[in-house]
Amino acid sequence: MPLDRTRFGELLRSQREIYKEMDDWRLVYASQNNRAVKVAQLLWGDNPPWVQDKAEVINGLIAANDYKDYLEIGGQPWSERSTFAKIVCERKDSVNPGHEDGRDEKHKGQFEDKMSPGNNHYHLYSDEFFKEACNKKYDIVFIDGFHEHSQVYRDIENSLNNLNDEGIIVLHDMIPLTRDLETSPFRTGDCWRGFADFRKREDLQMHVLVPPWGSEDSLGFIKKGSQVPFEKEIEYNYDFLLDNIEDMMSLIDLKSFIEIYLPQANKQL
Ligand SMILES: C[S@@+](CC[C@H](N)C(=O)[O-])C[C@H]1O[C@@H](n2cnc3c(N)ncnc32)[C@H](O)[C@@H]1O
Repeated sequence: MPLDRTRFGELLRSQREIYKEMDDWRLVYASQNNRAVKVAQLLWGDNPPWVQDKAEVINGLIAANDYKDYLEIGGQPWSERSTFAKIVCERKDSVNPGHEDGRDEKHKGQFEDKMSPGNNHYHLYSDEFFKEACNKKYDIVFIDGFHEHSQVYRDIENSLNNLNDEGIIVLHDMIPLTRDLETSPFRTGDCWRGFADFRKREDLQMHVLVPPWGSEDSLGFIKKGSQVPFEKEIEYNYDFLLDNIEDMMSLIDLKSFIEIYLPQANKQL
């Protein structure tokens, strides 16, 4: 069983009645970051293999596995600061209907012709993309669209159907650091519920990396493989999440993540 040496679940449970509001996540994050840094220093000394953000993790997976085809659900290729812009991969596709809460004509057609050869943007909702436009399999899919239970469930299901056998799905915003953050699909939302549903399957390998970087997000990973399924009946509420977080979300820290997903990098440590 992989380990979370930072004891993230214990930390969230101990603070759940103290920090509840949307922006309290900074305070929860500060204590988590403190622990994660200390654990990394304990394990690796003064130069821990620090990952700074989601793009760095995704790029690490692409390089280690020689992945060629990347798909981002909720990609924002019109922004130079977006994850999509930072990803280094031979072919990149992005799907986004526009603005946060629906289709937005503002971006349509304004940037697509400036995209590098091999890259495409689909001005569609992810459901429409998978039904009408997706005509290939991907090595790596980053799910970061509408942060709502049933949407994330469908995004995972559709991504699995369009994933190469050795491919991986990376999911954003798996753990709301406060109770209120779970209630907004435009913030962390309740994506965790879609991930948890798939923890019932034996034929997948799934983990959530405790975030070792400064933001409210944490990343989930799904590959074809095997796992011991989560047995309890899932209750879709924040307390059930915190009380079962280690097993249900299959939490791992940075060391376990590197051992499992980037073993080449681990040999160099
Ligand atoms: C948190 S932002 C994405 C940030 C981006 N992934 C990054 O890291 O740079 C979420 C995006 O998902 C898009 N979105 C909302 N519903 C969607 C859906 N059903 N399918 C695809 N994208 C969706 C929104 O328009 C918004 O731009």
